[in-house]
Amino acid sequence: MRNLLFVVIWVCCFVTVSEAQTVKSPNGNLQLDVSIKNGVPVYALQYKNKPVVKESTLGIQLKEETKITFKDTGVGVKQINKYDLTGGFAITKAETRQFDETWQPVWGEVKNIRNNYNELAVTFTQASTDRYIILRFRLFNDGLGFRYEFPLQKNLNYFTIKEEKTQFALSGDHKAFWLPGDFDTEEYSTVTSNLSEVRGKMKDAVTENASQTTFSPTGVQTPLMLKSKDGLYINIHEAALIDYSAMNLNLDDKNFVLESFLTPDARGDKGYLQTPCQSPWRTIVVSDKAGDILESKLILNLNEPTKYTSTDWIKPVKYVGVWWEMITGKSTWSYTDLESVQLGVTDFVHARPSGKHGANTQHVKEYIDFAAKHGFDAVLVEGWNVGWEDWFGKTKDYVFDFVTPYPDFDVQELHRYASSKGIKMIMHHETSSSVRNYERFMDTAYKFMVANGYNAVKSGYVGNILPRGEHHYGQWINNHYLYAITKAAGYKIMVNAHEAVHPTGLSRTYPNLIANESARGTEYESFGGNNPDHTTILPFTRLMGGPMDYTPGIFEMNLSKLSPTNTSHVNSTLARQLALYVTMYSPLQMAADLPENYNRFLDAFQFIKDVAVDWDDTKVLEAEPGDYITYARKAKGTNNWFIGSTCDENGRTSNIAFDYLDAGKKYIATIYADAKNAHYKTNPQAYTIRKVIVTNKSKLAQYCAPGGGYAISVIEARNDNELKGLRSL
Ligand code: NOJ
Ligand code: CA
Repeated sequence: MRNLLFVVIWVCCFVTVSEAQTVKSPNGNLQLDVSIKNGVPVYALQYKNKPVVKESTLGIQLKEETKITFKDTGVGVKQINKYDLTGGFAITKAETRQFDETWQPVWGEVKNIRNNYNELAVTFTQASTDRYIILRFRLFNDGLGFRYEFPLQKNLNYFTIKEEKTQFALSGDHKAFWLPGDFDTEEYSTVTSNLSEVRGKMKDAVTENASQTTFSPTGVQTPLMLKSKDGLYINIHEAALIDYSAMNLNLDDKNFVLESFLTPDARGDKGYLQTPCQSPWRTIVVSDKAGDILESKLILNLNEPTKYTSTDWIKPVKYVGVWWEMITGKSTWSYTDLESVQLGVTDFVHARPSGKHGANTQHVKEYIDFAAKHGFDAVLVEGWNVGWEDWFGKTKDYVFDFVTPYPDFDVQELHRYASSKGIKMIMHHETSSSVRNYERFMDTAYKFMVANGYNAVKSGYVGNILPRGEHHYGQWINNHYLYAITKAAGYKIMVNAHEAVHPTGLSRTYPNLIANESARGTEYESFGGNNPDHTTILPFTRLMGGPMDYTPGIFEMNLSKLSPTNTSHVNSTLARQLALYVTMYSPLQMAADLPENYNRFLDAFQFIKDVAVDWDDTKVLEAEPGDYITYARKAKGTNNWFIGSTCDENGRTSNIAFDYLDAGKKYIATIYADAKNAHYKTNPQAYTIRKVIVTNKSKLAQYCAPGGGYAISVIEARNDNELKGLRSL
């Protein structure tokens, strides 16, 4: 991030310590009340006088531990942290301050981000143990963030978290967009139901995954999107997840109270902390307008500015890759048909190739040619390194070394060829979830990347985590994900981590974390299909924490045409696949289909070539979670806009205006839309393309087919000649 544009107000004051503290958001719409009830810290949040969170308790349960001491004459045993940090408190101090700054992200949805909040920091002292904690609350116009702080003190230094007891007491049986709570995967379809229905729907919601650990019949994940019966949109998540376990929520479905449920380690412990330290922020984004949730920057604002001294090496990327052909079964990651291999033992040079290996030099060159011809930045190659024969379904500690290519993948030659065409290569590191093995090789692997012209890595954590018993979202592995990002920064490498923990806005601090997967991406269209409303929900859930490598752009929906045994069908129209480049925000965007499929529809492919991946401005034109989303975004450093709209299985007519365009200017809008007879199941490739003149007065009523959508490029006309033959909208 560049320097702060301006820091406006810093006001600090001490208020008289009373049992009840109240603070309002800068615009006065939100009110936060913090107090003590029978010694327990509680808070409540209202939006325009409607309850968002009713009085809810806060606290941390500690693990009671013994410690051997060597004081004085002999060895003794001392009981530590005998009492929880959940009760027996009094408020001994409360501080407020106001903060207002505007900062510029390295990449993002908008050029300037305003960070404006009123803060309340309350000290809760537990007299019986002579310990204290601070609850810091930041109230923005779009919601609340709060965290636990544990200052350095005599009676609280090392401690183990048994459970965090943060409650979110909701005002009723809200509609929820939820995933089963899990310590190992987020790759579930979203269920839309009332909270009271979660228990009944849980069994069907828990679909199979390579690694999964559910914990409760009413456990759900964050970001959790809710809509109350009186029209409030509420999103619960976390920000700045560092050195702490990721939070799930457990629902009390009688009273509609959600409570934090942290990811445990192999021993069942939920966190090892040493003061001074703090929890991540717990976030509640709220509005009576759905679009405000999508436009919220609260989670980014709760993260720290970057400390990277240079960020000019971090660049948004549009890429193609040797990927979808393996996902669909057309080709393979592995080079041979061998059942098992061992690095350094199996002789790959003399092994018989299966003939289906995707990542061979000649084929990769075809992708490089395609990328260069159509103006892409980069090519991803998966399955280039030895070990894939042993990748899936085994929990094995040493599958990959990240530097040994298969005999048919010529790293140096591809480096030379890609450079000659101005194309960057994206390396793939499937860690096979053997985390220590990856750390062991990390420096060597990153050096190898730099030496061979790769400036971005897609990493992956498929299967159960090694060491055995650890989970994908515990404190220890969260630290690993961050270690991989900061280490990569040392080599000026950008990271796109799949199967890693849900993002929490860390890309503000570590902008080389250019995307994550952490949800059910396009790959599932090949594993049975995503629900047609999936992309009308993800921006309200998964994308709240950061960009997703969703890998859109599939033009051939009948996957048996790629691989005869694949019976999956992509649940989307082709026009909607174009819209996803706008609706699924990411500075890293893949054109995921095969070149041969793009070559069949070059007129529609033009939108993917034209669309930007970095933005100066973003407007949500229409939004309702589960039904539809329409965005307009202004391409970085230009006066051009791109519009994308996605809808559910019902189809609809979208009504949008162009009033954000410059007054007095004319633009050429190319509208890529579903044809009247398009349908995501039966006729997905029926689309129309038309060019019209638009101004800031124009309005559009655009049909979207079931499971469809539309995409528009809006390019400023440079002269009247360009407008010849075109009609106004
Ligand atoms: C799962 C990832 O999401 C996918 O993109 C990748 O191709 C496979 N793992 C193989 O690592
Ligand atoms: Ca995945």
